[in-house]
Amino acid sequence: MRAKEEEFLILNPSDIQTDIIQLKGRRYNEIYDFVKKIINHQFTRRIENGIKGFIFHGEVGTGKTTLAKALAKDMNLPLFFVDGVDIARSLYGQSEKQIGNLFEIASNRKSIILIDDAESVFPTRDWIKGQSWHVAQNNVFFHRLDNVDTSKSCVILTTNRYDLMDKAVKDRLYPIEFEPPNLETLIEIAKTKCAMLGMSSKEVIEELKENKKDYTSVRAVERLIQERYIEEMG
Ligand SMILES: Nc1ncnc2c1ncn2[C@@H]1O[C@H](COP(=O)(O)OP(=O)(O)OP(=O)(O)O)[C@@H](O)[C@H]1O
Ligand SMILES: [Mg+2]
Repeated sequence: MRAKEEEFLILNPSDIQTDIIQLKGRRYNEIYDFVKKIINHQFTRRIENGIKGFIFHGEVGTGKTTLAKALAKDMNLPLFFVDGVDIARSLYGQSEKQIGNLFEIASNRKSIILIDDAESVFPTRDWIKGQSWHVAQNNVFFHRLDNVDTSKSCVILTTNRYDLMDKAVKDRLYPIEFEPPNLETLIEIAKTKCAMLGMSSKEVIEELKENKKDYTSVRAVERLIQERYIEEMG
């Protein structure tokens, strides 16, 4: 069941399609294991004042959002999902209230809180010169974050603009950089995606090897596969 409460979605593990087995690359899997270990430790040992959460930062399409979802699914935890762009667009004062509600509701059960594309919600003070409502909102968030019970909740922020994020937010969360996948990983991803579409990966892999420079993100590879998929239908 997908429930829309306020400006966030509650995704139950069964709503999430991503599975960690589909996630390729050594570094990517290391990050996954690292984050999972910390959450597991804090939840099972009932550490109430441990690591509050993480900031996943890196280029577009490096799997930041996917990893957070895969974690929730694999750990069988509900995911409180906030689209940062949505919240930043809400009316004056509303976003503060929504962040408050989010933490309130999430605190009732074990969960992961994901604030996706968070740079628009928690921008640096320089970037938003003079917009005091942002400062007020950040203060609400800090307060909530400082009071998070880490034996039940873990907060994950994602951003591809780490440079634009408020320093005080960065200081409160553990930063993890996502690097673009290497060619070997992209080929592995391509094989899995092609198999899912019932098509041969041979041509796609040849193209990836020939024009490496054009394919630096999973999204670019996905686009290529999609084109080939349609072509093959004839
Ligand atoms: N290591 C990986 N293995 C398999 N698929 C991956 C991997 N990394 C990313 N993907 C796929 O790439 C696509 C983009 O991933 P995702 O949306 O999580 O990126 P993102 O870092 O959140 O990007 P953005 O900064 O634009 O929000 C998804 O289809 C995802 O499944
Ligand atoms: Mg994302």
